[in-house]
Amino acid sequence: MRPRRITIHKIQTMKANGERIPMVTAYDYTQAQIVEAAGLPMILVGDSLGNVVLGFDSTIPVTVDDMIRHTAAVVRGADTPLIVVDMPFMSYQVNAETALRNAGRLLQEGGAQAVKLEGGKPIAPIVRRLVDAGVAVMGHIGLTPQAVHKLGGYRVQGKTSRSAAELIEDALAIQEAGAFAIVLELIPAELAAEITEILSIPTIGIGAGLHTDGQVQVLYDMLGLSLGFTPKHAGNYANLGETARDALERYAEDVKTGAFPTSAQSFHVDRQRADGSKADDAPTVAGPYGSSD
Ligand code: KIV
Repeated sequence: MRPRRITIHKIQTMKANGERIPMVTAYDYTQAQIVEAAGLPMILVGDSLGNVVLGFDSTIPVTVDDMIRHTAAVVRGADTPLIVVDMPFMSYQVNAETALRNAGRLLQEGGAQAVKLEGGKPIAPIVRRLVDAGVAVMGHIGLTPQAVHKLGGYRVQGKTSRSAAELIEDALAIQEAGAFAIVLELIPAELAAEITEILSIPTIGIGAGLHTDGQVQVLYDMLGLSLGFTPKHAGNYANLGETARDALERYAEDVKTGAFPTSAQSFHVDRQRADGSKADDAPTVAGPYGSSD
């Protein structure tokens, strides 16, 4: 029997029970398998794939088709976590009809269970329309990367009492519009704690301190997969970029010197069976790409 997928109600119950909610991004089948094996209840197919997978300097060029392609791969890789997909730039801001059509595609063609969209009060009517149409929506306020140029860079938001008050209003508007949870990105820990206290829906922080109901991180950042800059808030759970570079350097060296492959990594003619037939007990090495004998 297929395992049951985690629902938005389970995520909300976690808040009610004071159970913290870990979430990370994933962008492909293999990453999703690893995240599921680690037991995380929720995966975000983030439009940060524009940065870490596609090499853009912002999330702005990411399209709905990009998100569908990656979401479908993640869904194939993980049966149990709730899968939330980012609605990319301009796929929901224009009007509610466009938002509905694009959310529909992300759920039908991508197979996600929920969409996430960025913005506060001005975006609340769109959230309402999606929720009324039966779409599970996660909000996202604070630093909203799709608005990077308007915000003047990737800066901490809500540092003044006025902007903090606006963010509290934004959070309430998104909850009121029917979102099941909300991401708080790059805001002071004290403000995130206050919003978490006020809201009944779970808050999922990234660079928002300890007192949110959950945490989300970009997988590449927290695993140290990128060789360049890693944000301060990402934590330092692994150094996979360095590990991979080291492995590749050793591989390249072994190929150059003839140390790889060894006999153990090679296949050999069975001289007893020159007619090409297989012995009954001949091992067949089958991988995901088929037999390799
Ligand atoms: O796209 C993304 O990865 C995100 C997270 C930063 C929350 O939206």
